[in-house]
Amino acid sequence: MTDSNYFEPRPRGEHAVVLEGNKEIFGAGALAEVGAHAKSLGMHRVALYTDARVGKLHWLEIVLQSLRDRGIGVSVFDGVEIEPTERSLKAAIRFAEADDFDGFVSVGGGSVMDTCKAVSLYASYPPSHFLDYVNQPLGKALPAPGPLKPHIACPTTFGTASECTNVAIFNFLDSGTKAGISNRAIKPSLGIIDPDALRTLPAQVVAANGMDVFSHAVESFTARPFTHRPAPEDPAVRPVIQGANPFSDLNCLEAIRLIGENLVKAVRDPEDFAVREKLSFAGLLAGIGFGTAGCNLPHGMSYAVSGLVKDYYAEGWPRDHALVPHGFSVIINAPSVFRFMGPTCPDRHAQAARALGVAEIGQRPGDDLARGVIEIMRAIGVPNGLSGVGYTMDDLDALTEKGWKQRRVVDNAARPVSKEELKEMFAGAMSYW
Ligand SMILES: [Fe+2]
Repeated sequence: MTDSNYFEPRPRGEHAVVLEGNKEIFGAGALAEVGAHAKSLGMHRVALYTDARVGKLHWLEIVLQSLRDRGIGVSVFDGVEIEPTERSLKAAIRFAEADDFDGFVSVGGGSVMDTCKAVSLYASYPPSHFLDYVNQPLGKALPAPGPLKPHIACPTTFGTASECTNVAIFNFLDSGTKAGISNRAIKPSLGIIDPDALRTLPAQVVAANGMDVFSHAVESFTARPFTHRPAPEDPAVRPVIQGANPFSDLNCLEAIRLIGENLVKAVRDPEDFAVREKLSFAGLLAGIGFGTAGCNLPHGMSYAVSGLVKDYYAEGWPRDHALVPHGFSVIINAPSVFRFMGPTCPDRHAQAARALGVAEIGQRPGDDLARGVIEIMRAIGVPNGLSGVGYTMDDLDALTEKGWKQRRVVDNAARPVSKEELKEMFAGAMSYW
């Protein structure tokens, strides 16, 4: 796979790529603008979603004040669960249905924004069955029957980029798996990214989210090229996730560079706001990138890692239940995947390694990229592979079974992988140092 492959005519292959617009406002202090933008979107009475932790931070007060200043009524739901489930999602939907809201605002991390995105769909057009909007095979992936009410998404962390994607993820307790809703309609009308909000982010959260951003960027950059998909039957309905493409390449290489330059500094020195601001921007860039390209194996594997967790508790996250923070569950797979998939697209792995700041790149660039990220993982306190979050070789079959079901991301790898190969990649991720 090389860049030039994008443009080679391929029989029955895709020949064009779509970049759908994202409206994002980025800048320190931008949270105070929420009210003005809500007004211009026609909101008079909004349902604001947040979680118990963010609900106590003054970032929420800034948003509430800006809404009140514009005469906009607001009711707050602060019961969003971190790693939402259908139970917490249903409670959030009931809240929206109980009043006559004409818009939504979400203030928080990925769980909060994802919940609000799903609420905007479910409360506007209640489905006949709860799973109707959920991706196949769990659900029917039904499209939204019409336009949704406006939603302003305000991240108070960075990395998930939920403010600029049309995906919402929750844990489906009945089957013990992650359920995704990919629906063009749920992309927020506007994202307001205020890097000031990162000032209160604990160092370990910065570490995990920074690694998530890095993986979004590398996974998009090394995903199956868009030209390797079959041409669409109807060019007016191209899929949201298209594979690596020239737009996402630009964003993702810059995001990798910003992570290489700033992540270790940001974790070591929480007072250095300038580096946190750069990480926030990297998160947005990578988010716009994976919004069209899509992630691949490290994210596919991460859903098994987070779903099968037994007794891992991380500093900086709620300790009422075992949980592998998303960024950790992703990045602990990544070096193994880079080593395994490097030979499929060595140029891309070499470019990613160079962007990260790896000085010497040899015959196996996937190994060099793995080396570069392992160095960062060690420097910022990421667990040492799967064993670092409590897994042993006895868990390989269960991890593989669960990871294998994540077709949407597994099939977005640069080449098809077998179940046996996926197991090898899990085995290679057990420990790195
Ligand atoms: Fe992620």
